[in-house]
Amino acid sequence: MALVCATDYEAHAKLHLSKKTWDFYSAGARPKQTLRENCAAYERLRLRPRVLRDVSHVDTEVTVLGQRMAFPIGVSPTAYHGLAHPDREVATAKAACSLKTCMTLSLCSNASMEDVAAAAPDGLRWLQLYILSDRELTRRMVRRAEAAGFRALAVTVDQPVIGKRGGMDNFLPPGMGLGNFPYGDDVSSTEQMRRQISLVDGSLTWKDIDWLRSVTRLPVIVKGIYTAEDAREAVRHGVAAVWVSNHGARQLDGVPATIEVLPEVVAAVDGKVEVFVDGGIRYGTDVLKALALGARAVFLGRPVLWGLAHSGEEGVRNVLEILRNEFRSAMALAGCSRISDIEKSLVVHERHFRQAHL
Ligand code: FNR
Repeated sequence: MALVCATDYEAHAKLHLSKKTWDFYSAGARPKQTLRENCAAYERLRLRPRVLRDVSHVDTEVTVLGQRMAFPIGVSPTAYHGLAHPDREVATAKAACSLKTCMTLSLCSNASMEDVAAAAPDGLRWLQLYILSDRELTRRMVRRAEAAGFRALAVTVDQPVIGKRGGMDNFLPPGMGLGNFPYGDDVSSTEQMRRQISLVDGSLTWKDIDWLRSVTRLPVIVKGIYTAEDAREAVRHGVAAVWVSNHGARQLDGVPATIEVLPEVVAAVDGKVEVFVDGGIRYGTDVLKALALGARAVFLGRPVLWGLAHSGEEGVRNVLEILRNEFRSAMALAGCSRISDIEKSLVVHERHFRQAHL
């Protein structure tokens, strides 16, 4: 099987993962309109390349929250990497570190944050956090993240309840413990359900974001922002960045694709904080479109899992390299030699051309 694009790794993962794992990774909130849209919306955007601009050298480097990334494509937090490969998040972290990009570790990882830090000490890493109903436990997680050299906390705010999706039924084989929690490896289906529920605190409000900021010196990113109103609220509450995400279309079905809401969020924050986006990014041209619409960097969820399932660290590295190389080539072909050359005028919606030709 030739593995040329990230989606080739998807086809491979579908063939080789157990059905339970595939169902868990690929699930979207039913009836999955948003899952389809997250990718489809990129296809409705058209690029307007510029020529004769000396692209003999293309520099993809960016900074995120003051830290360097060799290219603006990082790793989104996804739970349970152990289902894809025995090296778990350690493999993912090593791959991201070797390419000098950012890895966001899920709080629900199989490897602990300390193991991930030890495996790739020089890597840029952020911790995804759920504010747990047990605030003391949450505070301990924050302390551990600080001690283990994580550079930011991405607090997920789009899961006050778990969305209606498949793939959650007894999907964990024995021995798949959550590395950051003091649980044993008993993963009966009742226990799995109890754990999932304990991660969700439906009572969260902006006051809890204030609380989180008050207990850490790390920058706080809010992941799961979807409207201009909430983006402005986030800025008012002093966050360092907003992350446009619909949790990989696993929570509220019927919301627009992330790339469709990105411009409204970018306009609302008005340059005051950085904006990140994930969801449905599969090609280098998607990355170019997202940056043209104002994202500082993009992040990949499932494609990283597909690479991990293929060949652990090497597979993740291959997927990230494919996206990086596609992005670099797309920049050159669009006439951009630096990230700052990527302007809004590079992208238009396809309807622009339909109207023009009516
Ligand atoms: C996720 N996502 C997620 N988000 C989060 O904040 N904490 C988590 O533990 C998880 N776990 C998780 C597991 C799996 C299997 C998936 C597919 C997704 C959401 C994730 O961070 C990201 O927002 C999406 O995956 C991005 O969409 P794509 O790239 O998968 O289309």
